[in-house]
Amino acid sequence: MTSNIWNFWAKKYDRLWVQKYSLSPTRNCISKIIDEDNKEDESLKVLDLGCGPGQLISILEKKYNNFKITGIDFSEEMLKISRLRNPKTEHINLNAESLDKIKDKYNIIICTHSLPYYKNLDKVIFELYRLLSDNGKIYISFASGNTFYDKLALFFVKLTTGPAHYPSDAEFRKLISNHFLVESFTIIKERFFMPEIAVYKLGKDIT
Ligand SMILES: C[S@@+](CC[C@H](N)C(=O)[O-])C[C@H]1O[C@@H](n2cnc3c(N)ncnc32)[C@H](O)[C@@H]1O
Repeated sequence: MTSNIWNFWAKKYDRLWVQKYSLSPTRNCISKIIDEDNKEDESLKVLDLGCGPGQLISILEKKYNNFKITGIDFSEEMLKISRLRNPKTEHINLNAESLDKIKDKYNIIICTHSLPYYKNLDKVIFELYRLLSDNGKIYISFASGNTFYDKLALFFVKLTTGPAHYPSDAEFRKLISNHFLVESFTIIKERFFMPEIAVYKLGKDIT
């Protein structure tokens, strides 16, 4: 899949109907967990992978003066919007499959509604392990293909995004099992007709 479809959605993204029941509740959930985990005066390096137009970065930029934030996305149009919205953030146009080019370590890695579009998930998970500092946390969320209804609903979502694979909870846990431990797990389901959104907080498995 190319970044073209996301370039197409970039200017319309803030007005998409899924903002209300999916994307915004995810941002609220993740920023709440980050608030619970971090003190405002802590100086931390934060990576938002698949940051899109930077809506979550914007919340964090305003709240946390001492976060040094990097946003990565392979859609230049998404990045253009995030750059305007988040002047203090470093932005990198990069495919998640090429994270090996990044040499820094991060205390917090965020990835919301982007993972289902990565082709080589094993490689991305391995790189996230490398990029996370030893006591860092990953906050990751995606629409979860848990139930028959989820899969059906997400089939229609795919018509607007191009190829995607929405892992079930069991699949995701297996995928990360060699590298991370699940420290918390939340399901967001704002409306009966929405697929479940899974939100995981992961810590490095350094045993
Ligand atoms: C549904 S949007 C999510 C944006 C934002 N994280 C949010 O929660 O609103 C998916 C984003 O992932 C990006 N993306 C998809 N596949 C990618 C890849 N292989 N490498 C980098 N970014 C990717 C897209 O360009 C898009 O901005």
